[in-house]
Amino acid sequence: MRGQRPVGVVTRGTTGINRLRRSDRWAMHDPTVVGALAEAAHPLVVDLGYGAMPVTTLEFAARLRTVRPDVRMVGLEIDPDRVVPGRDGVEFARGGFELAGLRPNLVRAFNVLRQYPEDAVDSAWAQLRAGLAPGGLLIDGTCDELGRRCAWVLLDEDGPLSLTLAWSPFHVSTPSDVAERLPKALIHRNIQGEGIHELLQAADRAWATAAPYASFGPRVRWRATLEHLREQGVPVQAQRRRMRDCVLSVPWSVVAPAMAPV
Ligand SMILES: C[S@@+](CC[C@H](N)C(=O)[O-])C[C@H]1O[C@@H](n2cnc3c(N)ncnc32)[C@H](O)[C@@H]1O
Repeated sequence: MRGQRPVGVVTRGTTGINRLRRSDRWAMHDPTVVGALAEAAHPLVVDLGYGAMPVTTLEFAARLRTVRPDVRMVGLEIDPDRVVPGRDGVEFARGGFELAGLRPNLVRAFNVLRQYPEDAVDSAWAQLRAGLAPGGLLIDGTCDELGRRCAWVLLDEDGPLSLTLAWSPFHVSTPSDVAERLPKALIHRNIQGEGIHELLQAADRAWATAAPYASFGPRVRWRATLEHLREQGVPVQAQRRRMRDCVLSVPWSVVAPAMAPV
């Protein structure tokens, strides 16, 4: 893992134990992610920007190994002081958006781009996508300190595929509470005329309509909310299993920014 100078800037290293559990759980079951890992001869996953301690990388490795036991996991950090010795079969090295010359099947960059300006997103995405193995995927996500509100974009070599919002059924009162944790590509777009704004408004309305289900608990109410959204023509991704989290996934075309970064 040598070569060019790491691309990017050192940012705050805030992280936390189990902070990325909702995204990990989703990745373990999402057919696109699971398919990319299943089809790889030697699956390589990079956790880019793991922060001041490597816990989320170790957790991601343990969870993905339930899907593909031979996953090679490499944590890359642009801050050399945060690079730690490998452990539990996980490697750590210095690297940035150039991915230290690796060609991973999956890159996860959580809470990395949020500290960059909005107009840096496109070039970072382009560089990361260009570094993927054929058929590879990128997860660019954001969450709050305790991982109760999360959002991420899934991309392949050609561009963004989908947006997923996931939150704690017991700590979030309305779907639009997740707005403050949207990925950098969308966080400034929660305004009139933008798809993400319309989606969050529609989700809040459907959540209100599903209020009669509140006595069955927030998960049942959320399933009813998804049905309401579907009935209104919002192409929400079907959920094939019982979910611990409230999860809303839509194709990127639903939320792709209409306006250029300001
Ligand atoms: C807020 S921490 C996120 C830690 C962990 N991913 C999480 O979500 O809990 C962001 C980390 O990304 C690192 N970082 C920023 N830009 C990077 C880049 N281009 N390549 C690799 N790491 C980067 C920063 O140095 C910092 O340690």
